[in-house]
Amino acid sequence: MTIKNICCIGAGYVGGPTMAVIAQKCPNIKVTVVDINESRINQWNDPNVEKIPIYEPGLSDIVKEARGRNLFFSTDVDKAIDDADMIFISVNTPTKTYGIGKGMAADLKFIELCARQIARVAKDDKIVVEKSTLPVRTAEALKNILDNTGNGVNYQILSNPEFLAEGTAVDDLMNPDRVLIGGDIDSPEGKEAVEALTDVYAQWVPRERLLTTNVWSSELSKLTANAFLAQRVSSINAMSELCEKTGADVNEVAKAVGMDSRIGPKFLKASVGFGGSCFQKDILNLVYIAKSFGLNEVADYWEQVILMNDHQKKRFAANMVKAMYNTVSGKKIALLGWAFKKDTNDTRESAAIYVADYLLNEQAEIVVYDPKVTEEQIYSDLDYLGSRSGDANRQAVTVVNDPLEACDGAHAVAILTEWDEFTTLDWQKIYDQMLKPAFLFDGRRLLEPETKKKIGFEFYAIGN
Ligand SMILES: NC(=O)c1ccc[n+]([C@@H]2O[C@H](COP(=O)([O-])OP(=O)(O)OC[C@H]3O[C@@H](n4cnc5c(N)ncnc54)[C@H](O)[C@@H]3O)[C@@H](O)[C@H]2O)c1
Repeated sequence: MTIKNICCIGAGYVGGPTMAVIAQKCPNIKVTVVDINESRINQWNDPNVEKIPIYEPGLSDIVKEARGRNLFFSTDVDKAIDDADMIFISVNTPTKTYGIGKGMAADLKFIELCARQIARVAKDDKIVVEKSTLPVRTAEALKNILDNTGNGVNYQILSNPEFLAEGTAVDDLMNPDRVLIGGDIDSPEGKEAVEALTDVYAQWVPRERLLTTNVWSSELSKLTANAFLAQRVSSINAMSELCEKTGADVNEVAKAVGMDSRIGPKFLKASVGFGGSCFQKDILNLVYIAKSFGLNEVADYWEQVILMNDHQKKRFAANMVKAMYNTVSGKKIALLGWAFKKDTNDTRESAAIYVADYLLNEQAEIVVYDPKVTEEQIYSDLDYLGSRSGDANRQAVTVVNDPLEACDGAHAVAILTEWDEFTTLDWQKIYDQMLKPAFLFDGRRLLEPETKKKIGFEFYAIGN
């Protein structure tokens, strides 16, 4: 079976880049990305490709090449479903904010809506691919909904979790470590569906990196991968606090530990805490699944990764207050960076939001600069926390387009995202414009400490 027409439901951080790369690498496949969010689709269709809604290095060039050729963005979800032989579901699966499992379980209402829409519209056999990160055994529920419409359409459900990291999405999609495809490999139809998807990826990914498993292993592997990655960050962050008390340097510890080939060097960078839309929600989901099977020790074990991360964000902000003579009330503090990591405009669960909120509770005046995040997004992130009114957030927080302007007249500067451009700022000029003593808090271990101390900064870095 050869796939000719793909539909992807959800034009977000996963659906957009993933489909752009599939379209670029498979010119013979028509790829249509649909979304109910009209303004997002309009942005994807903006004649100026620099204005697409998601910032990822290299993405706009790919969109420029494929859009209008075999890559299309649309709000006509029904038509795209009807036309497609393979449908990717790439919608959001946030943590539930209500009812059973509130604050832990994944909210699958968007997934279910997709399944019902597919069931209503489809007239011929479809392969449905779970691209969203889902609790183990979701495919069963999807199949149930799809099979119970009684219109004679046959569905094959595949799990194909996405492992891209924001900020390096294009590179990750072009050269994935592996592509995981879970399917009903015991039936001929299931096998055929798995092969059809494998053939799509094989157009640019070496066959030995295309991994086939049963559906449940595939669903659970994605949650496991995120839990392991987040665990490494929390592990090194736990050590960063101990380093600060003992005179050890967390970068040196990380290097020494990471050179052990059994451990490896990646994801051992101490920071103000991990953010992003996935780690927290996926681990909470894992914890919820473990609890629902009565596996309380398993649940507690993984929950500690989240607790450590919350602690790291809070302790960074608390250290700032403590260093500044136990009060930041009325003091101007410049936050450099708002995105949850560099090279993305995504701010979901960014540590910066929580640090800002803590400092605002201490009555600080905040000025934010981030090269890719809009003012509107920053206010919306703070408003979402509900700690104070929207007006109060707008009164206490200013957003500027220039890092030097942010730091002008500030008592303190905090680096919260590791944007490369912060390393080459004119730190002498920043120091000259600040109130003295001038505090510089590096939440990302981005800056070289000695030169900053030599300029005169009171310099604090995580884990040192
Ligand atoms: N962001 C990441 O780095 C990443 C990486 C791997 C996996 N994932 C997983 O991929 C999934 C999507 O994540 P994302 O970051 O792209 O989310 P996102 O919020 O950026 O995008 C999801 C999109 O789906 C749309 N949508 C929701 N319901 C819809 C419906 N019924 N019909 C049409 N469109 C609908 C929303 O409007 C939104 O634009 C999640 O399950 C996430 O866990 C994310």
